[in-house]
Amino acid sequence: MNKVGVIFLEKFLYSCIFAKIMAQKEDQFKKVLSHAKEYGYIFQSSEIYDGLSAVYDYAQNGVELKKNIRDYWWKSMVQMHQNIVGLDASILMHPTTWKASGHVDAFNDPLIDNKDSKKRYRADVLIEDYCAKIEGKINKEVAKASKRFGDAFNKEEFLSTNGRVVGYQEKIKTILSRMGASLEKEDLKDVKALIEELEISDPLTGSKNWTDVKQFNLMFDTQLGASAESSMKVYLRPETAQGIFVNFLNVQKTGRMKIPFGIAQTGKAFRNEIVARQFIFRMREFEQMEMQFFVKPGTQKDWYEHWKETRLKWHKSLGMGDENYRFHDHDKLAHYADAASDIEFNFPFGFKELEGIHSRTDFDLKAHEEYSGKKLQYFDHEDNSSYTPYVVETSIGLDRMFLAVFSNSLVEEELENNTTRTVLKLPAVLAPTKAAVFPLLKKDGLPEVARQIIEDLKWDFNVFYDEKDAVGKRYRRQDAAGTPYCITVDHETIENNTVTIRHRDTMKQQRVHISELKEIINKEVDAKNWLTKI
Ligand code: GAP
Repeated sequence: MNKVGVIFLEKFLYSCIFAKIMAQKEDQFKKVLSHAKEYGYIFQSSEIYDGLSAVYDYAQNGVELKKNIRDYWWKSMVQMHQNIVGLDASILMHPTTWKASGHVDAFNDPLIDNKDSKKRYRADVLIEDYCAKIEGKINKEVAKASKRFGDAFNKEEFLSTNGRVVGYQEKIKTILSRMGASLEKEDLKDVKALIEELEISDPLTGSKNWTDVKQFNLMFDTQLGASAESSMKVYLRPETAQGIFVNFLNVQKTGRMKIPFGIAQTGKAFRNEIVARQFIFRMREFEQMEMQFFVKPGTQKDWYEHWKETRLKWHKSLGMGDENYRFHDHDKLAHYADAASDIEFNFPFGFKELEGIHSRTDFDLKAHEEYSGKKLQYFDHEDNSSYTPYVVETSIGLDRMFLAVFSNSLVEEELENNTTRTVLKLPAVLAPTKAAVFPLLKKDGLPEVARQIIEDLKWDFNVFYDEKDAVGKRYRRQDAAGTPYCITVDHETIENNTVTIRHRDTMKQQRVHISELKEIINKEVDAKNWLTKI
């Protein structure tokens, strides 16, 4: 074969490999979706009416996993910090809150319609997807070079010296910085011009017949009060943070909190997302876990670094693979921030934002002071002075964290006997059910002993009783549901009060005395043993 033929063949093979990887990832994501439904984790909202787009219900196992993630966050934030307290502010707030925070005027997404398909898109997402395709080309080049150079391959060097790759990177940079600048200036005409220059077409139909770009406010509104004269337009909160800001002084005074201190809150938030996709990654009704940390002006950079590091450690403590996290520091900052970074997680569809850490300056407290006419200042007894504190925020979506945990845990394992098992290797501290108890047979007094074990363990853990089918089948069911331990009661139990306890991940079985069960399970599921890794 001549040189051109070899190059063509190489290119063809690499596109096949790339397409295969993408197909595998897509396949894995489909498995996540169907497993979440089959094992009682997540259902589509109002499914019998064909569902509601980007709204989901957490089922019997999902609600427990979600609660355990929330508890794990709360424990690390509130219980482990003497200077962080909790709050549960309401979803509905005085509408001026959202004027002051900037959400009424600026919480917009730029949208564009395709005139032929009548489909609506986020203009920035169309452009970002275009850049992601260029990124795909870079990845292909990297894979190709890595294969060619083997162990001698230096990725960093390749990225900074290969002409074609450098060109791709520059193209992405130019496109994104032009888009960022145009959005910042609200120059929506230029955003449309960019879409046209790049010849971006409707992903579904290929049509390039676009409308102008318009701003679309993401807040849901509703009416408070019954009569037309007295009713008032209120919003469903798009973030929990503002409930913390408006209560800053109440908490500080009643809790006699000294700066630096934090207020933590978990709760629902609502956004009328235009592009709601990727299952529970982007929802219209979702839950946030946020903490606002109030600091002395001038110290915010240090605290920002502190919280970036602390939050990353929290994620890593769950053992889901250090390589699956990375920081993405923002170049383009929101109007209220002087620094911002995302912790990105390697979801089945690639690295995406899981949590944001933002240095929000004194923007929010100052804005609420201005709109309410009330002082929101802190009197520092050490300095004998009053000031508006600066704020460092950590903000994570509970549903997004759920997706990270769930998708990372779902694996298909090849077993020695050439069969496969589906196992949900949830971090044991988060697993909905900690142990399942099986009588080997439904007779000879075994069910009674199994039920007694349940009675004893249920005070400390969620436990589950199952007597249906062969034990092997029952193990598989619990593996797929994510239960870390299975306990089997057999005839030997009647004789000497011992049972077998089987570990989900290793499938190893141990014979232990019933009185040891609590300690064995607790060792693996106790949050203390996980959080001390932070
Ligand atoms: N108070 C700051 C704030 O709300 P954000 O980056 O808009 O910042 C914080 O949101 C986190 O909330 C995100 O990192 C993400 O995990 C989660 N989140 C945001 N929008 C979401 C949505 N539509 N569906 C699910 N989670 C979402």
